[in-house]
Amino acid sequence: MKQRLVIGNWKMNGSLADNILWATHFRHGLKSQTLQDVEVAVCPPFPYLQSIRSILPDIVQLGAQDVSSECIGAFTGEISVNMLKELQCRYVIVGHSERRARMGERDADIAEKFKLVSLAGLTPVLCVGETEQERAHGQTRSVISHQIQTVIDRCGAHALRNAVIAYEPVWAIGTGVSAELADIQSTHAVIRAQLSDNGLDADDVTLLYGGSLKPGNSEEIFSLPNVDGGLIGGASLKAADFLDICWAAQ
Ligand code: G3P
Repeated sequence: MKQRLVIGNWKMNGSLADNILWATHFRHGLKSQTLQDVEVAVCPPFPYLQSIRSILPDIVQLGAQDVSSECIGAFTGEISVNMLKELQCRYVIVGHSERRARMGERDADIAEKFKLVSLAGLTPVLCVGETEQERAHGQTRSVISHQIQTVIDRCGAHALRNAVIAYEPVWAIGTGVSAELADIQSTHAVIRAQLSDNGLDADDVTLLYGGSLKPGNSEEIFSLPNVDGGLIGGASLKAADFLDICWAAQ
C-alpha cells in the first residue's frame, strides 16, 4: 500500500512558544503509539521553519506554505526555493486557494512556482479546488482540470511524478464541514483520470484531500479510494488533534 501523507498547514498562526509546546505534545503523543506507514509534515509560517526543524528533527518533514516564482533578486518580502532548500524543507505548497484569492495568484504563476520547486528537488504540493460559486455553476471539473493542465503544459507531465496534489474545495476550508464523501471520491477519481490521460498512474502522484478534515471525519475520508492522505489546516494547530488524524491515516 502507498504510504499515506498527512501535512499540517499552520497558515499564519502560532508563536515560538506555541511551536515548542506543539512539538513537545506531538513527540509525547508518539510515545504512546508510533505511526506506521504515514509520512507527516508540518508547514509552519516561514519565521518558524528553523525552530521546528531544530525541535522536531526526526519525526516530521518540513514544508513551506509558499515560494517565490523568482529564483533570486529584487523581490522584496519573497522567499526563494533555494532558501527553503537550505532550511531542509521537503514540501512546498503552491496555489493555495487563500493565495489565489488574496494575492491574485493565477494558474500560470502557480505553474512557474511548481516548476521551480520540482527543479530544485523539493516536492510541490499543488492545491486545486473550486469556489462555492464555481460549484454552484457546475464548473468544479473544468476549474480543477485547468488548474492541473496548466502545470502539465508548463512543466510536462513527468514533473508531476512524485509530486502531491491536494484537492481543497474552497467552500469547505475553515468551515468545519468537509465535502461529502461521494463528492470527494468522484472529484479525486476525475483528477486521477486526468493524470492517467497524461501518462501518470496512481502510484506516481500523491492525492490529498483538504477542507475541514478533522479527527472526527478523517478515518472515513482516508478510507476512500484515491485519497492518499490529507492537508490539514485548523486541526493541525493542536498536536493532539493532528496526531489523531495521523493515526487515522495508518
Ligand atoms: O491547506 C489546508 C487548509 O486549507 C484546510 O483548512 O482549516 O479547513 O482544515 P481547514
